[in-house]
Amino acid sequence: MTSVAIAQLDQNVRTWLQESRDQILAAMASKVNVDTKTNRNDLVTNVDKANQLFLIGKIRQAYPQAHIEGEEGTSAKAADLTGLVFFVDPIDGTMNFVRQRANFAVMIGVYENGQPLYGAIMDVMANAVVTGGPDWPLQLNHKALSAPGDPELAAGLLGVNGPMALKNKLHLGDIALASSGARMSGSAGMEFNAIARGQLVGYVSYLQPWDIAAGLAIGRSFGLIVTRPDGEPIKLLEPGIVVAAMPRAQEQILLMMNELD
Ligand code: IPD
Ligand code: CA
Ligand code: CA
Repeated sequence: MTSVAIAQLDQNVRTWLQESRDQILAAMASKVNVDTKTNRNDLVTNVDKANQLFLIGKIRQAYPQAHIEGEEGTSAKAADLTGLVFFVDPIDGTMNFVRQRANFAVMIGVYENGQPLYGAIMDVMANAVVTGGPDWPLQLNHKALSAPGDPELAAGLLGVNGPMALKNKLHLGDIALASSGARMSGSAGMEFNAIARGQLVGYVSYLQPWDIAAGLAIGRSFGLIVTRPDGEPIKLLEPGIVVAAMPRAQEQILLMMNELD
């Protein structure tokens, strides 16, 4: 039994995401300041930082008991997953935001004592918000979304992390070739949304907690399987390689990762 009313949580989060969107679009009308973090392709902008501060303020006001794990380092880190934890990625796909001005997302994943409660991913430019959780239906813009099918890997498109596939890490290049085709969007949030909408059969990448929290929670509303390459469950606070796919494709991906030489 959760201490949080999910219907209220859903309404709060969807309201915050709309406000985030308005602020991001307004900020895009002015100059965006871009900095690098760990390497030249790991970007952060004033818009990422402002949106994280905005979302943290909203979460603190509505859920003062919650811990918040945000990407841009302005929140108190959750030491463990005890209690209510919000994972926030204020702009997922910052490279796309900077270079394409499209194909980026805002993500919020909510957990209680390590169990997913609810996730929301907004494709900002399309104004499309996918939501769901173990006890919350899969929805697109607050309307029911049919669960995606469960095709063979060969019959589905696979979202992949670019460098991993190009270097054939864990045979990901071979696995992508065994699918209907590889897609590399550059935003984990966009990939999870595409799976929820039946446009991809799965996604393989190296992800941080805030990259995966919302997608994993939403996936619980439609039977998405999310594991490490060895089939072990995800420990949410640890970054690592993630294999998220519909059941048949997930099994085939793990087999190829572990049995090819
Ligand atoms: C990145 C995107 C990208 C993934 C990277 C993430 P960011 O998020 O989700 O698709 O491959 O690992 O860091 O940094 O743009 O929020
Ligand atoms: Ca980010
Ligand atoms: Ca991210």
